[in-house]
Amino acid sequence: MPAFAARYNGITGSAIREIFKIIAQPGVISFAGGNPAAEALEDARIADLAREALSADGKRVLQYGGSEGWPQLKEEASRFLAERGVNAPPDALLPVSGTTQTIDLLCKALIDPGDTILVENPSFLGAFQTMRLYQARLSPIETDGQGAIPGALEEAIRQTHPKLVYLIPTFQNPTGVTMPVERRKAIAELAERYDIYILEDDPYRDLRYSGAELPPIHSFDRSGRVLYLASFSKLISPGLRVGVVTAPPELLRKLVIGKQSTDLHTDQLSQAIVARYLAHGYLPGHLADIRALYGERLERMLAGLDRIGLERTAPEGGLFVWCSLPEGGDARALLERAVSRKVAFVPGAHFYCDGGHNETLRLNFSNSAPDAIDRGLAALAEVI
Ligand SMILES: Cc1ncc(COP(=O)(O)O)c(C=O)c1O
Repeated sequence: MPAFAARYNGITGSAIREIFKIIAQPGVISFAGGNPAAEALEDARIADLAREALSADGKRVLQYGGSEGWPQLKEEASRFLAERGVNAPPDALLPVSGTTQTIDLLCKALIDPGDTILVENPSFLGAFQTMRLYQARLSPIETDGQGAIPGALEEAIRQTHPKLVYLIPTFQNPTGVTMPVERRKAIAELAERYDIYILEDDPYRDLRYSGAELPPIHSFDRSGRVLYLASFSKLISPGLRVGVVTAPPELLRKLVIGKQSTDLHTDQLSQAIVARYLAHGYLPGHLADIRALYGERLERMLAGLDRIGLERTAPEGGLFVWCSLPEGGDARALLERAVSRKVAFVPGAHFYCDGGHNETLRLNFSNSAPDAIDRGLAALAEVI
């Protein structure tokens, strides 16, 4: 068999996607994945919007389009971002096929084999896989219960001269932790002082169930070094594959060129649907609904974990709670036992760029009804 490219060395595929195969079995309660609840997916409304987009603009939607994205989506997304403290005119945005693609395009534009990317440890393993395919060296940033520590980040920048710093400051995946405002300011200053790009991946910001909103790192950026990654996956639908990224003009151009060889442009029907969704003003009402739905599930999960006595984070939003088993616990072995009781979760070791931490696990609460959360946690308590 002809040899595979060296970039695939050591890359085994997403651990979560393997666990997806387990949870596809009937009757499994899944605390794995980061899926929206089925009730949160508005199929009837999206069907109406698709019909509307095709009736109004069908020939254009169905034709090849510009790699730079669907103009109406860029306008709507620019307004959406401004409401969240991210000021980016439509021309400073690139619609992408989900944040997953943003990370891919940024690596394609910026990473040569052996370049360093600094990542929170633990962090989103999907991003790790993309970065590793570009043969980046992932180096951990020290974190605590408030996310990445700016002093430690500065030290790591000095030592490793990274090309990129990847951060999820709000309701982090996997920990659910949120970075306070002083750290956000300090990190924007570091980007300017050391002239490096910070990727602010912020797909969970709108899924806040308690506490006050915080300004994004991007809102403190004066140097154009903070790139804001927004996704409509968790807010509207992951299947539509629509997100946007902000970038300064020279970098945006490189992302567009990279996109031309990846998929030419993001699906135009999806872009037109999301643009119309935002233009009709559907998002605030839908967010209120899903915040109520997920907030109740989070409370139920936290109460259940406290009954079991597992050490855990206390997220105010997002989709995940992060737990630690008692000393010597092994979440991978636990997963095997849990699956035999038809419960799944993701062992935490997968989220560490340097492995280890076998006692940790990530639990998703959005995708299980409250009574399923109770049953799943009861089964988990037994196998623990
Ligand atoms: C932090 C983070 N970034 C990106 C993604 C992927 O999002 P998208 O569907 O926009 O590719 C996820 C999904 O779980 C995530 O948790």
